Amino acid sequence: MDNKNLLNRSMQAVWHPCTQMKQHENYPLVPISRGDGVWLTDLDGKRYLDAVSSWWVNLFGHNNLRIKVAIQQQLDTLEHVMLAGFTHEPVVELSERLGKLTGLGHAFYASDGASATEIALKMSFHYWRNVGKHKKTKFISLQNSYHGETLGALSVTDVAIFKDTYAPLLRQSAQMPSPDWRLAEVGEGAEAFALRCADALEVYVVEHADELAAFIIEPLVQCAAGMGMYHSAYLKRAKEICTMHQVHLIADEIAVGFGRTGTMFASEQGNTKPDFMCLSKGITGGYLPLSVVLTTDEIYAAFYDDSTARGFLHSHSYTGNPLACSAALATLAIFETDNILAKNKEKAAQIFSKMQVLTDLPIENSRHQGMIFAFDVKTKNASFSKASYTVALSQGLLLRPIGNTVYFMPPYVINEAEIDHMINATYQVVKQSL
Ligand SMILES: Cc1ncc(COP(=O)(O)O)c(C=O)c1O
Repeated sequence: MDNKNLLNRSMQAVWHPCTQMKQHENYPLVPISRGDGVWLTDLDGKRYLDAVSSWWVNLFGHNNLRIKVAIQQQLDTLEHVMLAGFTHEPVVELSERLGKLTGLGHAFYASDGASATEIALKMSFHYWRNVGKHKKTKFISLQNSYHGETLGALSVTDVAIFKDTYAPLLRQSAQMPSPDWRLAEVGEGAEAFALRCADALEVYVVEHADELAAFIIEPLVQCAAGMGMYHSAYLKRAKEICTMHQVHLIADEIAVGFGRTGTMFASEQGNTKPDFMCLSKGITGGYLPLSVVLTTDEIYAAFYDDSTARGFLHSHSYTGNPLACSAALATLAIFETDNILAKNKEKAAQIFSKMQVLTDLPIENSRHQGMIFAFDVKTKNASFSKASYTVALSQGLLLRPIGNTVYFMPPYVINEAEIDHMINATYQVVKQSL
């Protein structure tokens, strides 16, 4: 296939996400024809190591045999049926398994992360209405939070570049101090800082409890903020504060769920059972779009009624798609049979120790939480992010730095030679992009 021709056709016909399309005059699209393991191959046969798991979705590599076979088998029996009025084995089994893993036994499905955020916000609001607390209509989130870009999700997101333009369309929400330890005072430990931020949260919640429906957070790592990591003590305190003052805690585990932070779900590290958990991205191993909101018996019960209007009348056409659910079941099976969490623990230690070679460079805040690794580059180059992205591609590496933060969120199947390539190429990338 003609490479150039495909790029031109894409520029004409496809409006690419999160992109000022004109910038592709200088930064050409990369036409990918194949994926295998951690590698993506372009039309000229050049390979790129996918160090960002294709926007944090891929867990067990591209072209993963077990997930592929599970989808193929499902294709032979049922590709899709609407979930209103109907049900099927993959969606039931997946819901049961997620219920066991999280202790949240009621699963409501959608296809993307942002849709899961919308569902959790609407459900929380509707719960309070159903129990007669009509004033509880507001949401709070953390500074620098990211929960997706549909209007409801953007209302609780705090990233100016995505939010400011649409401000007139959004609901007001208040942002609590972020416990990201990079924001701590000099000499203040991560835990002490997290608890100080939790104190500020408490002050706000106490004052506004009557009108607050929910507090939505990204447990342990604020990924889109540049992999801002924080101490698990914050999660524990946040849940206590929310419970005490009758405010729901929504754990947005869309990016951090499925082993990314070292445990199956990040909330576990704060010993926290949220009222809602949003999952997506890695849920299908990166194969098909699927998201889910899990919630408690108590919340479910408040909707279970003779009145139709008290029910949760929200839907998406592809809710609970059987192919996506079968990919998710195969993904969960791999976690179990291949002892992934234990293996990741060793791999994460190995990657972080190999990252020490980067300390020759002008970098700071080298950090990791499970299989998320990051450092911040001290540079005056205002275009560092774009420059490093381009140099990385030339080195056979897909990196997508966020501002001056370089991060790795590789597929869990990355092997030692591939880790070496990722880190050695990154060394050159940073050096050449300062
Ligand atoms: C924490 C978090 N929430 C929500 C989303 C939105 O998910 P999606 O892009 O699938 O809508 C993302 C995406 O990066 C995310 O990181």
